[in-house]
Amino acid sequence: MSFALHHHDVLDSTSSEAARRVRAGAAAHGEVHVAREQTEGRGRLGRPWHGAAGAGLYLSVVWRCASRPDGAAATMAAGLAVLDAVRALGLEGARLDWPNDVEATGGKLAGVLIEALADPRGGTALVVGIGVNVAQRDFPEELTRERAVTSLALEGVAVTVDAVRERLLVAVATRLEQALDGNRHERLAHDFLVATELLGGTVLVRVAERDGETTHRGTLVSLALDGGIEVATDRGPRHVALEHVRALERG
Ligand code: BTN
Repeated sequence: MSFALHHHDVLDSTSSEAARRVRAGAAAHGEVHVAREQTEGRGRLGRPWHGAAGAGLYLSVVWRCASRPDGAAATMAAGLAVLDAVRALGLEGARLDWPNDVEATGGKLAGVLIEALADPRGGTALVVGIGVNVAQRDFPEELTRERAVTSLALEGVAVTVDAVRERLLVAVATRLEQALDGNRHERLAHDFLVATELLGGTVLVRVAERDGETTHRGTLVSLALDGGIEVATDRGPRHVALEHVRALERG
């Protein structure tokens, strides 16, 4: 897989740029938009993503698919790609936090935003936006108020933004190919579950309902792309389809 890199000094958002190109029918499979700085970086659930100039890696990959890919598989694959990359760079202790944040000792290290767009040239284009905190030594207070945040530098991994990008793109290709091959989904879900370090532990599953949410607390027994999550609770086993899981956390 070869990626075509588009370097930008400042962008509103690499994912917005990639989406504009998809909608214009101009985006090639494997094109990557990388910015030194983002002024309107976007996170999941409408949250902003802080994009200090030069300190983090901000990129979005366009992945064109003949048909709409399994959303949960793509989500897992993207998180695992970031995890594979930061572990390969020396941060062995990193783990995944539902659905695909990468966490280290000091807090959240990286985030992934996946968007699936109708491709005017046919099929679906995934825009996989990834932000990794690389060289930051401190963060704005409004960011750390909600949750702890860290960077590779703060975790003791001295590495350049370019080195993270190179390692990350290799991992993205490997994991997205796995996500698009149904025969490899079992392994993908297994790797994901291991990476969350939740298997066999007590978890809290928040389940989205039409008018709110319900929660189940118990032991996490299994997670599969087709079978969803199984939790052994005091009231017996509970099964939740992945698309209904709002959060899966240590309970
Ligand atoms: C999250 O944790 O909520 C996801 C954060 C995703 C941030 C990246 S930075 C590169 C790309 N461009 C964006 O605007 N967002 C993603």
